[in-house]
Amino acid sequence: ADGTAVDISDPETRANLQKAADILNTTSHAIGFPSETVYGLGGSSLSDESVKSIYAAKNRPADNPLISHVSSINQLQRKLLVPGQKIPDIYEPLIAKFWPGPLTILLPMPADLTSSPISQLVTAGQSTFAVRMPKHPVARALILLADLPLAAPSANASTRPSPTTAAHVFHDLQGKIPLILDGGPCDVGLESTVVDGLSDPPMLLRPGGISLEQIKQAGGPRWSNIVLAKKTAGKLEPVRTPGMKYRHYSPTAKVVLFTNCGDGKQKVGDYIAENNLAGKKIALLRTRNFATAAEISPLITLDSPLGQSGDEIQHNLFSSFRDLDDQNYDFILVEGVDETDEGLAIMNRLSKAASETING
Ligand code: TXA
Ligand code: MG
Repeated sequence: ADGTAVDISDPETRANLQKAADILNTTSHAIGFPSETVYGLGGSSLSDESVKSIYAAKNRPADNPLISHVSSINQLQRKLLVPGQKIPDIYEPLIAKFWPGPLTILLPMPADLTSSPISQLVTAGQSTFAVRMPKHPVARALILLADLPLAAPSANASTRPSPTTAAHVFHDLQGKIPLILDGGPCDVGLESTVVDGLSDPPMLLRPGGISLEQIKQAGGPRWSNIVLAKKTAGKLEPVRTPGMKYRHYSPTAKVVLFTNCGDGKQKVGDYIAENNLAGKKIALLRTRNFATAAEISPLITLDSPLGQSGDEIQHNLFSSFRDLDDQNYDFILVEGVDETDEGLAIMNRLSKAASETING
């Protein structure tokens, strides 16, 4: 949820938040917590040992850097910046408009990396670090109470779709972490937008909960020429962009993405016939233009509308992948969307999940 359903002044909720904050402050265990985007797996950004347990619980490659989460600008200044360091001006309009919320920015590390309070395991040796201020009241209360910046990747096992409920986190990480705070289903449903305002022109490193159009509109002239980061990175290049070199967001079923295929009758029908899918468990995830599964092919097992609006599609995407995996689907046939507004982030996640794309 955006957390509106969560009352953080409720005594039981306070007690759970305190328990989580105590774990973060007195042990090096990582814990699961809700944010408005997806659930995070959080540990102190300031402690090598805490960051190590994050990587270990997720089984995540250690050269993929983590985002630090703060509850206020004051906390960012006190805990993550070096004395005298200022947040670069270029970020001012974006911070004013989108924090707290699903926007992550890159800030410079000091030239002498060891003078930064941030664990170098958070940044994987990069000359920048990523930070965001989440909106979810449980995330905010936890970070405030612990008074720690939390390094937190999405709380899925590496390569699984990001979790959007506490049950998803439990499914992937049970036995590996001591506690998951349940704040209900996440509102946005996919991860934050990551921008780099330190490069010229500024770069969109990962499309997410704030759209490119919103950034251009709120950002003023310096953000009007923002460019998209290239999609692939060589094995030896440092990781510039999430998912550049790792397989991501993948359910076990084979995902086939259909773009510009109209009502889907021709292309989806052909795909099923040409690949002899009779007898397979096939789900159709449709968005705006596809006909119903029954109209497309009698061989489709499940007709699952993702929604019409960008918000709905985002919200349902990862949880649909997980549901279908739990039910052992063999094929997930997905209708793509235009890459405008929420569509850019949706198509980014869909292309990473898909092992094949059919273009109409
Ligand atoms: O919405 C979100 O951002 C969620 C919630 C929990 O806040 N977190 C999340 O974290 O998606 P994660 O680790 O799954 O994705 C963060 C991405 C990484 O893949 C990494 O490549 C990128 O942010 N990143 C982190 N630090 C970076 C840096 N210094 N330079 C470039 N990219 C960076
Ligand atoms: Mg992730």
